Amino acid sequence: MKCLKNQPIGIFDSGIGGLTVARSIRKALPGENMIYFGDTARVPYGNKSRDTIIRFACEIVKFLVKKKVKMIVIACNTASSFSLNAIKKIYSGPVIGVISPGVKEAIDVSENGRIGVIGTNSTINSRSYNKEIAKYGPDIKFFSESCPLFVPLVENKFSNDDIAYDVAERYLKELKKKHIDTLILGCTHYPILKKVISSVMNGIKLVDSSSAVAKKVKDVLVKEDLLLSDKRSQGWTRCYVSDDVKGFRVDARIFFKKDISIKKAVL
Ligand code: DGL
Repeated sequence: MKCLKNQPIGIFDSGIGGLTVARSIRKALPGENMIYFGDTARVPYGNKSRDTIIRFACEIVKFLVKKKVKMIVIACNTASSFSLNAIKKIYSGPVIGVISPGVKEAIDVSENGRIGVIGTNSTINSRSYNKEIAKYGPDIKFFSESCPLFVPLVENKFSNDDIAYDVAERYLKELKKKHIDTLILGCTHYPILKKVISSVMNGIKLVDSSSAVAKKVKDVLVKEDLLLSDKRSQGWTRCYVSDDVKGFRVDARIFFKKDISIKKAVL
């Protein structure tokens, strides 16, 4: 079935992390309508198995399809690592993950070809970043580290707390010895810890893939003739969460600088 330009873009993550991507899409495409799903009842995804992550992602996509989205943005590295192909099997419209735009940006900004990535246990163990980086040839040296406590710190609002610095020092200790000049924040929750991570990784360029993803969303919408080009009107954003809306409302207000519609949804 042909989609219409005024149908919303569907975006999802395990929790609030994907709001970093939604915010960039909103900035790049102010007129577009967006539906965001945060699977707050089941966050974190990063320590779950491949099969579970695929099942969760497909359930969310089915929910977004019922909301008549014109494209799907997997605003989660963990879900992008495992479920891209499974989603393409159940959804015929455009699907974008966050891994390849982030890697492309890192390759563009790195000067010494030594790139690090940090992510959840599942993302790092999936080797999705290794596979994507390998496409750019053997000269790129790549180092990775999983940081499983980062997501709970963010979800529990400890992003600026001393405890976040202590955890970051510990997780990033080995990466600091690798002479990388670029570090990919391979989890959409991590840009919320940018201040902490950049103070520990002093002088290293941090790649937050959200603006690269937003650019890719625009390119795909143009290519598919689905870009809503009415520049006069501001698009709407609606969020759905699988658990209580209260905590999510506070975060959404910080991201969008206004109150937006948030409802609890049962998948
Ligand atoms: N924000 C997600 C990611 O990019 C998920 C993190 C989690 O739920 O563990 O990987």
